[in-house]
Amino acid sequence: MAGLTLGRGAGRIRRSHPPAKGALVKRILAALVVVALSSPAWAGPPSAAEAPALYKKSCASCHGAEGKGGTARAIAGKPASAVAGVVNAHAPPMDKLELTPDQIAAIGRYVSSLKK
Ligand code: HEC
Repeated sequence: MAGLTLGRGAGRIRRSHPPAKGALVKRILAALVVVALSSPAWAGPPSAAEAPALYKKSCASCHGAEGKGGTARAIAGKPASAVAGVVNAHAPPMDKLELTPDQIAAIGRYVSSLKK
């Protein structure tokens, strides 16, 4: 019910204050710039220092905090290229990960550095 009320309110505001077309375009462009700048593709190659955080965010939930296994098998100490290869192949359930090739390579090096 709250959502419905909010929706109607928003519609009324938009009707009584239609933004000028130019202003709307400017706002959309500004939003696109923000999205582009915050997307990983523009962040440059991740440093090795970022890899642990990337691993924790993208992999630890299944492979364990130290790569020793969880719901999925242990991957600690596997060769970096093998790890990156698996992730690059986007094998399910890893197909949902949104990582750049640079990030995947950094994660691969990090995983290979973990003790088995
Ligand atoms: C949603 C759970 C999940 C996430 C998140 C996940 N994986 Fe996996 N991964 C699996 C499963 C399931 C397998 C295949 C079966 C297994 O190894 O137990 C697998 C297999 C692998 C393998 C092959 C292991 C082998 O010995 O064949 C590697 C390497 C791997 N994952 C790396 C990663 C990396 C690196 C990340 C993070 C970028 C990641 N995975 C994120 C679930 C996940």
